[in-house]
Amino acid sequence: MANITIAMAKGRLAKQAVKLFNNSGINLPDDMLSSRKLIFELPQENLEIILVKPADVPIYVEYGTADLGIVGKDTLLEENRDLYEMLDLKFGKCRFALAGLPEGKETLLQRKVATKYPDFTRRFFKIKGEPVEIIKLNGSIELAPLTGLADTILDIVQTGRTLKENGLVVYENIQDLSARLVVNKVSMKTYQKQISKIIDALEAELEEE
Ligand code: PRP
Repeated sequence: MANITIAMAKGRLAKQAVKLFNNSGINLPDDMLSSRKLIFELPQENLEIILVKPADVPIYVEYGTADLGIVGKDTLLEENRDLYEMLDLKFGKCRFALAGLPEGKETLLQRKVATKYPDFTRRFFKIKGEPVEIIKLNGSIELAPLTGLADTILDIVQTGRTLKENGLVVYENIQDLSARLVVNKVSMKTYQKQISKIIDALEAELEEE
């Protein structure tokens, strides 16, 4: 049997992903999240896990270096890669929203939008037919309207706490997000049986939750 490689997003999704796999009967190594290793072999499961920066998961899966990937829908929307999205894993729930200072809510002539998701933002405003200037940032997006760098942010909101504690309000909820299982298109055909077995195990556990 071939080894199936899974690219797992490091960071906030990894802990829940490991829990889901273990509950599904696919036992991942205990030290996976505490060690600095990036590749984990599971010969008894015919699996290999690679730990990848979230934005790189769709890239590994599109190129087929990884057969499967676990990554947030926010990253999938930004990367817009050619792959199959097979399963909503129901954790990492949050949403894309536009937000800013309370007084900036009215439509401006041209918004300045700060975001970690410039490509999604560009497509979103193109569909809306609104002209925008997009400023790509790498984190602490909420700072942008507070410092005057931008008037609007497009970001993920989970609990809403970061917005609230910085005096910002939601202008518009855009889309619900969560972690997804993605599959390389060729792997889906080549390793159909093995991949379906993994999907079925995860799906059965998700239905039980
Ligand atoms: C994300 C996001 C918001 C925050 C939302 O940032 O960009 O800032 O979480 O969560 P909340 O609604 O529960 O407050 P993250 O923690 O990933 O850090 P970053 O600012 O470095 O991107």
